Amino acid sequence: PAIATRPGPLAGRRIVITSGPTHEPIDPVRYIANRSSGKQGHAIAAAAAAAGATVVLVAGPVTVADPPGVTVVHVETAREMLAAVEAALPADVAVMAAAVADWRVASEADEKIKKGPAGAPALHLVENPDILATVGRHPTLRPRLVVGFAAETENLIANATAKLERKGADLIVANDVSPETGIMGGDRNTVRIVAREGIEDWPDLPKAAVADRIVALIADRLGRA
Ligand code: CTP
Ligand code: CA
Repeated sequence: PAIATRPGPLAGRRIVITSGPTHEPIDPVRYIANRSSGKQGHAIAAAAAAAGATVVLVAGPVTVADPPGVTVVHVETAREMLAAVEAALPADVAVMAAAVADWRVASEADEKIKKGPAGAPALHLVENPDILATVGRHPTLRPRLVVGFAAETENLIANATAKLERKGADLIVANDVSPETGIMGGDRNTVRIVAREGIEDWPDLPKAAVADRIVALIADRLGRA
């Protein structure tokens, strides 16, 4: 056959995954960014491909390598990420693991902003589109299973539950990213799975193991429906 289906618990399933930060340009040499490494989202893409899924990974600027067996679309900004995700639909599953920049500057300067007697420039910020909410509330192309993340420094469960409802997600992978956890950029993750059915606490695990468990959870949910 032209399209070979690889075996595994996600054989024949199509998954779109976002990963990494976005960069929002201020001028030709400066941007707004965040500390996301992309390690967790990329690990989920690798695990889903290993489980037999057809994976489209929409990756912001990261230094981690493209996972094997995955179609990777490299983007810079939140708006580019949204367009790439929409282009990847329809899909059975969406996993939105990217740390999308919440704001961008209203208008990017064409030339490098220079210092001068007027003092520091004021940056006027506008909100970026919410990719998870766009997918989770899509009128025609909503994937059967929509998974989001919630990076919080306080009130983890309350904030994650609010995001589940607001964005139309089925599951939220919640993690505490307060500086003392050292999670951001590291190789391990401690997450709690927030669903309408209840909350699961997972132990501290390598990001690859968290990815395997998320893929098993996805396969289980797709199988049950
Ligand atoms: N997300 C997204 N698009 C955005 C912002 C967030 O797709 N513009 C997704 C993230 O990929 C993640 C989830 O929404 O799956 C939650 O992201 P988070 O930053 O925790 O939530 P926000 O809604 O941006 O709220 P806040 O940052 O104020 O906590
Ligand atoms: Ca945010």
